[in-house]
Amino acid sequence: MPPWSLDRSRPSLSRERTLTADPALTTTPAPHAVADAGPATRPAEPRRGRPGAQRSGATPVWAAATDGAAGPVAPVDFVVFGGTGDLAMRKLLPSLFHRDRDGMLTADSRVVALSRDPLDAAAYRELVDSRARPHVAGELDHWAAFLGRLSHVQVDAGSADGWGDLHDVLDDGRVRVFYLACPPSLFGVVCRRLSAAGLVTPRSRVVLEKPLGWDLASAREINDDVGAVFAEEQVFRIDHYLGKETVQNLMVLRFANTLLEPLWNSRYVDSVQITVAESVGVGTRGDYYDHAGALRDMVQNHLVQLLCLCAMEPPTHLDRDSVRDEKVKVLQSLRPLAGDDVARYTVRGQYRAGAVEGVAVSGYCEDLAASGAAGATRSRTETFVALRAEVDNWRWAGVPFYLRTGKRMASKTSEIVIQFRPVPHSIFPAGVGAIEPNRLVIRLQPDESVRLHMMAKEPGPGGLQLRPAPLNLSFAETFRRRSADAYERLLLDVVRGNPTLFMRRDEVETAWEWTEPVLRAWAATGDAPKPYPAGTTGPAAAIALIERDGRTWHEEHEL
Ligand code: BG6
Repeated sequence: MPPWSLDRSRPSLSRERTLTADPALTTTPAPHAVADAGPATRPAEPRRGRPGAQRSGATPVWAAATDGAAGPVAPVDFVVFGGTGDLAMRKLLPSLFHRDRDGMLTADSRVVALSRDPLDAAAYRELVDSRARPHVAGELDHWAAFLGRLSHVQVDAGSADGWGDLHDVLDDGRVRVFYLACPPSLFGVVCRRLSAAGLVTPRSRVVLEKPLGWDLASAREINDDVGAVFAEEQVFRIDHYLGKETVQNLMVLRFANTLLEPLWNSRYVDSVQITVAESVGVGTRGDYYDHAGALRDMVQNHLVQLLCLCAMEPPTHLDRDSVRDEKVKVLQSLRPLAGDDVARYTVRGQYRAGAVEGVAVSGYCEDLAASGAAGATRSRTETFVALRAEVDNWRWAGVPFYLRTGKRMASKTSEIVIQFRPVPHSIFPAGVGAIEPNRLVIRLQPDESVRLHMMAKEPGPGGLQLRPAPLNLSFAETFRRRSADAYERLLLDVVRGNPTLFMRRDEVETAWEWTEPVLRAWAATGDAPKPYPAGTTGPAAAIALIERDGRTWHEEHEL
């Protein structure tokens, strides 16, 4: 049974475990409307206005552009389910600390961690001090003050105990954020518990960590369960890729420059590549990962979201519905991958022992066994996916989108490559060097940058020689600021009630509609994933997938 399946037999609040629901919990109160945010529906307003003006009432993506100058966000009680878990320690608490240090939290804002462990505030702070502090960047001068904001309440989603204690520590006057860093099998039951305990106020929001279900049906069920307690505008389905600097910059690049938009279509773009390669293996998450696999873990959400941001039409405004409406249209235009197309256009792989950056590492099944996952030695879960997608609309007809992601690849590299078409006619004589088509490489991580590969003349007085050369915009060099973690911006967007960078229900479900047939087709063939040695770019079949079309994957060592 996958960890996010709606099995209600094993209670736990820590992520990547399952839990029991109390059948008595059937409360279905009317959803609240979100407070502190713009209206749920779009206001009828004039379309035209001063250039750059925001529509009143609609929350812009960059509501926080003036962070610091604008002062802190509203006073908040930040309630973290899975408060002793990995996500809380590695990402949530360090991110809140960074924003606190920047003066973005009011003096009375607090973090209330929930778990089944019997910890008092002092013991919890000690735990955070040892486990979260290593993930904090820069100065720690404010660390002790931040720890002072933390408290812990022992609750178990499987029982009614402890919820009253939670009630006692929360303040009705504050924004209330319930961050569900727990398995999706718990989302519904936790929401019902919150509701039954009278904890859901009009100023509450709930944050759902991915994966949101394991297929379309389970995603719908979770959305229904959560939707019975919270209104859609109170629900923040997080995809941390949308909080990454360069991902947001993609919208600026496209819509704040006139240069690219006229070229951003099938007339000038030959193909698009989206790569999210990781050098890490499955680590300690074997139990979760072995039931998920790369398609559910990365493609259905992160890669599909990147594809949407590349392919969407310009939104009419930068508000939550305009942007998400355009993304949904892309999802609806994705050509279904079904039947023979799945074998032709998708590749699944699994890493074997190898070496990553000179260090010997074990294979996936050995890693699984080491993490204590059941059935480890015979796992057929994919740790790598490559696929060819098509967006069937006017702008993108005939332009393939190649997506690939994998664990234990040669290096951690996430990038989007827009491959332009060749020049229609060359005026240059033979022998001066090949004219390589332009490429725009948007590097998401590491070394966030935008590079435009152009053709240039080789300097020198001799004969004419052409050479590709990059125009390089490196964010580190240009802006010289610490690059904030994606969670830092997203967590405060939740407090502000701005869901633009979060997934709307229809987005998640439409993404599942496209992904699920691939999972089904793979299951039907029963084929094992193709092996690839750790430290490489994936199985040979992934190279063949793109080379069949006369193209190659863009690799880091290239220009
Ligand atoms: C998570 C996946 O959503 O994203 C992980 O569950 C993956 O398996 C991670 O490692 C990658 O995120 P990032 O920000 O390190 O690219």
